[in-house]
Amino acid sequence: KRHLISAADLSRDDAVLILDTAEEMARVADRPIKKLPTLRGRTVVNLFFEDSTRTRISFEAAAKRLSADVINFSAKGSSVSKGESLKDTALTLEAMGADAVVIRHGASGAPYRLANSGWIDGAVVNAGDGTHEHPTQALLDAFTMRRRLVGPDAGLGGDLAGRRITVVGDVLHSRVARSNVHLLTTLGAEVTLVAPPTLVPIGVEQWPCEVSYDLDAVLPKSDAVMMLRVQRERMNAAFFPTEREYARRYGLDGDRMARMPEHAIVMHPGPMNRGMEITAEVADSGRCTAVEQVANGVSIRMAVLYLLLGGAEPATP
Ligand code: CP
Repeated sequence: KRHLISAADLSRDDAVLILDTAEEMARVADRPIKKLPTLRGRTVVNLFFEDSTRTRISFEAAAKRLSADVINFSAKGSSVSKGESLKDTALTLEAMGADAVVIRHGASGAPYRLANSGWIDGAVVNAGDGTHEHPTQALLDAFTMRRRLVGPDAGLGGDLAGRRITVVGDVLHSRVARSNVHLLTTLGAEVTLVAPPTLVPIGVEQWPCEVSYDLDAVLPKSDAVMMLRVQRERMNAAFFPTEREYARRYGLDGDRMARMPEHAIVMHPGPMNRGMEITAEVADSGRCTAVEQVANGVSIRMAVLYLLLGGAEPATP
């Protein structure tokens, strides 16, 4: 495959190959020199039209650990603010010789447009488009779950069959939720979405998952509980209960966490609204994998760039 646009495009074998390659890449991070020469002479462009901390930095770290040259482009401060189009921006990057373009955009479908436009020859990686998808987030989440719930050795070549994953909160605006539902079900997990009725997408009954409105009933049956960020910037105020009401019904606090099985983990893609969807007590507890997810994101993004840009030999850390 030349591009990574949607988690829905990944077969089970594709997904397991990426997870297994990421396990190899994770070993590079444990070495004194955290670099492989695999992508020397290649150029990766980070094209970010929306803000990001984790995704942009981890793609940059991943490309650098594979010895690629990295160009960081942020729409803020660029000629996009003078009205330059996605097409002219893409043609400019093509003229500079981009082998891969990692794009985050507020419009759902922008990475698909870029990949199928003919404006650029390189691989396109979706780093989050509107409310549509964020496939590398889902991959790093699955990687974290496989390590925590299956085990690092048992995990190689394996999937998440039978694991019960609960995704909680602002599903309506969440590209993370969409990508996770696709990928987790492809990997054999059972997914339950929990959200206020106003934050459940229309057509959710077509999604391969259950929907519940009762978080307390679902928690004891969960192996992982993924809390979503409430995306106030994409939200009409009429859709949203008060912050206090949201936290009371859908927030994860210490009492609720105690209802989860002992082995179960709490996940959050970040950035977190502490005090809204998750309390500081839970976010800072040993059961919350938010920081581990960020570290795993570098390994996943190394694997994706390595597989898309066609490193000649498998990594031999
Ligand atoms: N999880 C995630 O995409 O975070 P950023 O918006 O900081 O990249």
